[in-house]
Amino acid sequence: MNPVKFYLVTDTHYFEPSIGCSGAAYDEYMKREQYFMAESSDIVKATFERIAADKSVDTVLIPGDLSKNGELESHKSFIKELNKLRASGKKIFVITAGHDYGEKSRAFVGDGCIDAEGTPFSVLRDMYADYGYSQALAVDDSTLSYIAEIAPKVRLLAINCDSEGNPKGEVDERLESWMKIQLDEAKKDGCSVLAMCHYPMIPSVPVFDLVGDAKLKNWRRTASFLADNGVEFILTGHMHIQSINEYVSEKGNKIIDICTACLVGSPAKYRKISVDGDTLTVDSIDTPEFRGDTDGVELEEFFDRQFVCSIQNRILGALSGGKGAVKLLKSIGRKILGGITVGGLGRLLWIKTDKSIRKTKFIDFAGNLGVAIFKGDMPYAAGTPEGDAIARVLKRFGFIIRKVEPKLSKNGIKVDLTDMLLNTVSNNKGYSDNNAVMKLGNGGEK
Ligand SMILES: [Fe+2]
Ligand SMILES: [Fe+2]
Repeated sequence: MNPVKFYLVTDTHYFEPSIGCSGAAYDEYMKREQYFMAESSDIVKATFERIAADKSVDTVLIPGDLSKNGELESHKSFIKELNKLRASGKKIFVITAGHDYGEKSRAFVGDGCIDAEGTPFSVLRDMYADYGYSQALAVDDSTLSYIAEIAPKVRLLAINCDSEGNPKGEVDERLESWMKIQLDEAKKDGCSVLAMCHYPMIPSVPVFDLVGDAKLKNWRRTASFLADNGVEFILTGHMHIQSINEYVSEKGNKIIDICTACLVGSPAKYRKISVDGDTLTVDSIDTPEFRGDTDGVELEEFFDRQFVCSIQNRILGALSGGKGAVKLLKSIGRKILGGITVGGLGRLLWIKTDKSIRKTKFIDFAGNLGVAIFKGDMPYAAGTPEGDAIARVLKRFGFIIRKVEPKLSKNGIKVDLTDMLLNTVSNNKGYSDNNAVMKLGNGGEK
């Protein structure tokens, strides 16, 4: 591939604060939200200013979930920020995704929640005309997928899998046929093609293969199609996670999926990516300091605290409600999980736990584990206190896992749940999810 360098920023979830993001309903909503809403505009501004100052890179790619929930005012303000970034000399290519249109738009005013004016899918092409569509060599009108040249002899195939023109989270046969025409054309013109798509192409961690919305439907088919048609890597978002994965098609062609975190929520990263010949270099950069208040704590802690809190509230929230005996059982479960330590839970399950984690509250352990998975490079291999504790829990519940596995196995692909979970908490890939130097093509990673 000819040399190309760009920034990859995704899931900016920009919200225009003047339409309302405060009050009792907002505070309640934020208890379960992973990423920041009131602060998102300041975070985006600070990030774009930093990118604008780097004169060594002239291209920025943004694969979707540009706005919080498709509020028209959020799009308008976000586009103003894109305009400023473009005026600094950057070429910017975006695709939209599920959070950019539809009827989910709302704002928080007073102590309540109100509907905000949303954005129909049909107007997104015109709104973002300067950010991909006017530069495109071809546009698929129904999904707003497109192909554009972003560097000499290097084309970007921007695949919109989260539109009104296609089954959600899927590349269907019609879109695949359109892509085949573009890929054949690129080949004929002697161009290399890299791709971007909102949904991860490959499950970011093994267990996400079991979660419907966590990756493209029929991902093996689409990954093979792209790899067999010369696409060597793809840039994705949606899951708000840092991960890099490889997949090799039956014909032996490799594709790399670089999935990047949400800019405005933990792990709060964006990437600088370059290709030179067959070497792909991926660097991750922390979301920068921004204008707003971070409660007097370091930025990383500020982001992580929100994410941990949302995980804990979701766990405890799942254990509330119901009626009669169910309500009683849930409230007992909530009390136990809310207060028990890892050591205490270990004793209940007849599992030995290392003394370094024994006094940690289970609910803190669970929150921190969730955040760690989304940061990538999971360190909980066999031999670590956390890795060993998780392995023992899985062994203890082996009799259930063995019953569940056949139900999870589909299309001739056998699920080994224990292996999936252990490889989710431990990065055994041989390269980092954050900063990696990979070899393109079929030679394996460097
Ligand atoms: Fe998102
Ligand atoms: Fe998404």
